[in-house]
Amino acid sequence: SWSMAGFVETAIEDLKKQVGDDKVVLGLSGGIDSTVAAVMLHRAIGKNLHCIFVDNGLLRMGEKEEVIAFLAEHFDLNVKLVDAADEFLSDLVGVEDPEKKRKLIGYKFIEVFDREAKAIDGVKFLGQGTLYPDVIESESFKGPSAVIKSHHNVGGLPEKMNLKLVEPLRELFKDEVRRAAYELGLPEHIIWRQPFPGPGLSIRIIGEVTEERLEILRLADRIVQNEMVASDWYRKVWQGFAVLLPLKTVGVMGDDRTYENVIALRIVDSLDAMTADWSRLPSEVLARMSNRIINEVKGVNRVVLDISSKPPSTIEWE
Ligand code: XMP
Repeated sequence: SWSMAGFVETAIEDLKKQVGDDKVVLGLSGGIDSTVAAVMLHRAIGKNLHCIFVDNGLLRMGEKEEVIAFLAEHFDLNVKLVDAADEFLSDLVGVEDPEKKRKLIGYKFIEVFDREAKAIDGVKFLGQGTLYPDVIESESFKGPSAVIKSHHNVGGLPEKMNLKLVEPLRELFKDEVRRAAYELGLPEHIIWRQPFPGPGLSIRIIGEVTEERLEILRLADRIVQNEMVASDWYRKVWQGFAVLLPLKTVGVMGDDRTYENVIALRIVDSLDAMTADWSRLPSEVLARMSNRIINEVKGVNRVVLDISSKPPSTIEWE
């Protein structure tokens, strides 16, 4: 009878046969898919797997440390950390349009990744954490969702790089990837990580992305993440995060009038991200998030809650 443990062992044997003694390069994003693909490939070919993690300057607080450093330490993965923050952020100066942000980030990612991959001698394969639903979508029907927001981080690479693809997860659905992650011994905080978009915080800062805005959003978002975990809601919701709005409103602190930024809370329930509804978090949890953000994050004096469903809204604001 079919079991996940059996699947994982067979898949690892198949990877050994497919790759042989060649080298594989794989981009780690911090998400579950690329992580599981990397750990499976590592089991199959060891140090011939070269992982690249591109820090685009648009990550959340602690992101690199929580996933990447962890993988290098506990799973002995061969990971190269590429600090490309300046390159990405300088491209984004003055850019307000959401699709333009996505495209710039997608192109820059390919450029940086390609450059880093070429620096590794004799790579023959590109490893990717492609899932079955992605295979179906790219092979047949491209629904309207494909053009509502371009998901640039998933396409474009193989064509440009002239490498053979190796995709250990192409027969799996998302819930199966989580089961595979258990089999491989990955820890809960990686297995149950909420999705985080490739363009990162850039699409959660409405309007222009600046260092100052990134700093505010990182601090606010960390509070949202902390409070979801502390209240045991982190795993019950699909995704929860902060969004920084490009407007200032009036507030009062002590005897003084303030004029500062607004943070929106976007916390949703969903099964597959195609549809979603705003999560009915207990008001005490929301109150704690709001109080902490306003008290602890300099530059924010108002927090609002997004109560829209998808459709017609989307999960992200851009
Ligand atoms: P939307 O905003 O379209 O998001 O309702 C649906 C899901 O996809 C994630 N998302 C992205 N993921 N690159 C990604 O890798 C992207 O450009 C992107 N845009 C949205 C979003 O976080 C949600 O889980």
